[in-house]
Amino acid sequence: MTSQPSFKPTYLEMQRRINPFIDRYLAKEQLRDRLEDLPAQFETPHVRAWKPIDWQTISSEQVIGLDLDVFLAILKGAMDTEAPIRHYTQTSRKYLEQLHPNMARFVGGTVSDDGALLEPGLWEKEERQHTPALLKIYTHLTGEKAVLNPHQVRAYQPSDNPYQDLYRHGLHRIATEYGATCLYLWLMAHTTGTIQAVLEELLKDEINHMTKFWGFGVWAYPETSLMRVGQILLHTAKGKVRYSRDRSSLLGTLHRMTQVLAWQSWTWTNRATFTYTCARSLHRISQWNTNLTPDYLQTLFGAQQNRNDHSYALRR
Ligand SMILES: [Fe+2]
Ligand SMILES: [Fe+2]
Repeated sequence: MTSQPSFKPTYLEMQRRINPFIDRYLAKEQLRDRLEDLPAQFETPHVRAWKPIDWQTISSEQVIGLDLDVFLAILKGAMDTEAPIRHYTQTSRKYLEQLHPNMARFVGGTVSDDGALLEPGLWEKEERQHTPALLKIYTHLTGEKAVLNPHQVRAYQPSDNPYQDLYRHGLHRIATEYGATCLYLWLMAHTTGTIQAVLEELLKDEINHMTKFWGFGVWAYPETSLMRVGQILLHTAKGKVRYSRDRSSLLGTLHRMTQVLAWQSWTWTNRATFTYTCARSLHRISQWNTNLTPDYLQTLFGAQQNRNDHSYALRR
C-alpha cells in the first residue's frame, strides 16, 4: 500500500478546497436543474450514467488531511448506512403511495397487487450503486473486503393520518440526502484522483435526490417553514442537539450519522471543516429554497388540492 502524503492542511486551507466544490455542485442553477428534471423522470425514468472509473489507480496517496484509518471508518459507516436501500425505498413508497403516486414510483418503483416488486424505482437504481463503489475503494486501499453491518431500517408505521406520517418520514429522508451530500462533498475535498472521481458520482446522485425530495416537501407542506427545518439542521451540525418528540426522527438521523462515521476519532480540524461544509451547503440550499413558490412547484408536481387538509393534519 502506498503511504499518505505528509501534507496536513489547516482549517483555512481546507476551506479553500471545499468552497469551489460548493460553488460548482450547489449552484442555484444546478439545484434548479435537478429539481426540474423530475417531470421527465416521472414520464421516462432513466439512470444517470457514471463516467468511466479506472479502479486500479486507487491509492492511499489520494487521501489528504484525513487519517487513513478515519477515512476507512467513514467509508465503512457510509456503506452501513447506504446498504439497506431496498428497505428504504419500499418504506418511502408506502408513505407516498396514497398522496403522490408518481413520486411513490420514483422512489419505490412498481409493485403488483400482492405487493411484489416488479421494477425498482429510479432512486433505488441510482442509490444501489453507492455501496459497491465505496466497497471497491475500501478493498483497493486495504486489500480486504469490508464486513458490512447494515443499518436497521425503521419499519413502515402508518397512523390514521397519512399526511403527518409522510411529513415525519419525509423530513428524515431529506435529512439523510442532505447529510450524504455534505459528507461526499467534504470527502471530495479530502481526496484527489480516482477516489475523488468516484465520490463525485455519489455526490451528484445525492444532490439530485436531495433537491427532488426537498422540492416535493415544500410542495406538499407549503405551510411549514423549511427555514425552520434548516435551523434544526444547522443547530445539529453545530452540535446543539435538543430532542423533542416531533423532531426525534430528523435529529436521530443526523446524530446517528455522526456516530456511525466515527466522529470521535476525527481531529478538531476535521470536525470544524465538516461543520463548515454543512452550514455553507445549507445556506446555498436555503437561497435556492426561496425560489420554490407554490405556482412554480405546481408545474412540477401538479395542483395541490388538499392544502387545507395538510395544514389541519400538521396542527393536530
Ligand atoms: Fe447514497
Ligand atoms: Fe442518498
